[in-house]
Amino acid sequence: MFGSAIKYFIKMKISLSVACLFLLPFCLQSQSLILKDGWKIKTGDDMAWARPEYDDSGWKAIQPARVFETQGFEGYDGYAWYRLKFFLPSSLKEKSHLKESLNIFLGKIDDADITYLNGVEIGRTGRLDNDPKGYETEWQKDRNYTLPANHPALHWDADNVLAVRMDDANGGGGMWNGTPQVAFLDLIDYVRMDALTHAFELLPGRMTKTVLFSNTYNKPIKGIFTVEINQNGGIIPYSRELLTLEASSVFEKKIPLSDSLHGIVQITFAEQETGKQLRAAQEIPYILTPPEAPAPKINTPEVYGCRPGAPFQFYIAATGTTPMTYDASNLPMGLTLDKTTGIITGSIPEEGTYRVLLKVKNARGEVSKNFRIEAGRGIALTPPMGWNSWNCWGLSVSDAKVRASANAMVQSGLMRHGWTYINIDDGWEAPERAADGTMVTNDKFPDMKDLSGYLHGLGLKLGIYSSPGPRTCGGFLGSYQHEQQDADSYKDWGIDYLKYDWCSYGSIAPQNPSLDDYKKPYFVMRDALANTGRDIVYSLCQYGMGNVWEWGHEVGGNVWRTTGDIEDTWESLKNIGFAQETPASFNGPWYGFGDPDMLVVGMVGWSDQLHQSRLTPSEQYTHITLWSLLSAPLMIGCDMSKMDAFTYNLLSNDEVIAIDQDPLGKPPKRVKNDENLQVWVKPLSDGSQAVGVFNMKAELQEIDLKWSDIGLKTPQIYRDLWRQKGKIAGQSIKLRLPAHGCALYKISG
Ligand code: GAL
Repeated sequence: MFGSAIKYFIKMKISLSVACLFLLPFCLQSQSLILKDGWKIKTGDDMAWARPEYDDSGWKAIQPARVFETQGFEGYDGYAWYRLKFFLPSSLKEKSHLKESLNIFLGKIDDADITYLNGVEIGRTGRLDNDPKGYETEWQKDRNYTLPANHPALHWDADNVLAVRMDDANGGGGMWNGTPQVAFLDLIDYVRMDALTHAFELLPGRMTKTVLFSNTYNKPIKGIFTVEINQNGGIIPYSRELLTLEASSVFEKKIPLSDSLHGIVQITFAEQETGKQLRAAQEIPYILTPPEAPAPKINTPEVYGCRPGAPFQFYIAATGTTPMTYDASNLPMGLTLDKTTGIITGSIPEEGTYRVLLKVKNARGEVSKNFRIEAGRGIALTPPMGWNSWNCWGLSVSDAKVRASANAMVQSGLMRHGWTYINIDDGWEAPERAADGTMVTNDKFPDMKDLSGYLHGLGLKLGIYSSPGPRTCGGFLGSYQHEQQDADSYKDWGIDYLKYDWCSYGSIAPQNPSLDDYKKPYFVMRDALANTGRDIVYSLCQYGMGNVWEWGHEVGGNVWRTTGDIEDTWESLKNIGFAQETPASFNGPWYGFGDPDMLVVGMVGWSDQLHQSRLTPSEQYTHITLWSLLSAPLMIGCDMSKMDAFTYNLLSNDEVIAIDQDPLGKPPKRVKNDENLQVWVKPLSDGSQAVGVFNMKAELQEIDLKWSDIGLKTPQIYRDLWRQKGKIAGQSIKLRLPAHGCALYKISG
């Protein structure tokens, strides 16, 4: 089905080479037996298929590193088995340095598997549908099953049979991503060198990079640890030392660096006996947003939409030293402002446009800002901003993690820059509905109403996730045939945002859905939400099928995903972000906004195992700049409670955020698009223009950008929004952009 096709397309985009960047073991093995050819498949489930003597001659041939939907099993979900007969030569052992443990690598398996070698179970990942503990997908996890060389299931110099029992819940299925192979583990394979667990620590005058080593071998492993700084291609040696990684231990290596260093830190661990190496490279973060001023500043967008009669809540986002007092003149009837918290609540009885003057005061002064409330002309009139649990926690999200993020949103100060929504993605639902069909939360979410009350008390809002299908993409309960009941639960729980994800609706819709088929489930939930009388932002998630940007508004959407899932790699960011010109061209405050997916900054991981975003600092500036030009919803995808100084700085630039939140909501135009450079221009409500200049090259680029080349008159004044500095410009502007970096200007001349 098309839905499934999109799903496996998404899944196929992660490559093994990316995994190697993580410096995982198994990437550097030299003596390996490749198990690429000869695999066979049969759908269904029969334990006799685990037995080596089983006659599989009637089975179909299948390639291992590609989901089975692309190989004649289009739309198949459920159990399947793969089998392979292979010869295991003892020469593999002879040629290996260590001869102790043999690793069988199978790539990834969508979604869960139990693997047998010669009839003996050698490993399992995820949980199959019939598991007593419940189904669990592990579609993104590498399968590495390791056996001692003398394991009785290994038949040396003889034929062996691998049999993989697997269960595919929806979307793509089977073995994918990575060529199966067998190899002995070498010393280096026991070492993990991880530069992504800890962010660079930025302190005044100095900086520390912490590299985490682990040695899972039962003897010490020695190696040379080298640090170099790569400055525009010139390599500067920094340090070199012998490191001993004690047996079965974890070790944190701290690299002190001066904060004036720029460029890329390159680290290498060369294992002493074999010379085999692990390497990592990271761009040194650089801070662009100036420190917050002590004087009061109102950062709230200029316009806010609500429905007459619906519960109203709005927090006046403002920075400056505390304590602060808030004021609002001309508030419409029905609303009250808490002058100490800045939270406006109540309900507006009458439709209309209400012009309010917001004021904020602290010991350093007073400031005011015009603010427009539109009652009855739509909600989400600027792209929603907040946090979503998916890119960090995946299905391991819990009430405690959501509260921790909400608390961090407040305590870090990010909320004072306009970040409002705290959205729970997939993973909150119970396995079964209540007897009357009402939706129930699972035990990770003891009390949804209490959670929303807590968030509302902080001035934040709560979002939730469901699917129009019977199951969500994570295999949890969806809303199919319970739409009104679910919308009523959301009202009862105090929900402010719903992400509604197509997922298993692919099995309800016809094989080749028409436009009406795509729209149908979204109309149903639109009506159900409208019946609640609550302002619930409606976020469509169906990966852009049927050009959703052309009809997202018609089905009541406020925002709609235009693409498959984003990942924290440049490839993913580039392929998604720079393909948004057409989808975004429909954007507008009275229409809705295209959503190129959530932000991949800070600690992400899609599970309870988090790592620093693999995007370089420059790529992260590009991410925020491009999303702001696109008027994209801004949903932070990281563990907020572990936010480092760089990520906070990146997300707290009010002048950049203002481009995203500009009340005109006009789409940008790409005025220059070549291999090396892209320039995007967006008209703003005050008559000025935002200009984003993007270095598409993987190396530093010096650019002399003529205003006339991008269709602009020679301006008098331009402002560097990241640095928040105004300048006078001549005919052109000279730029030095790091690899995949960018600049964002506001031009008013
Ligand atoms: C995907 C969706 C992700 C996330 C996930 C949850 O389909 O694109 O953003 O919501 O499902 O299972």
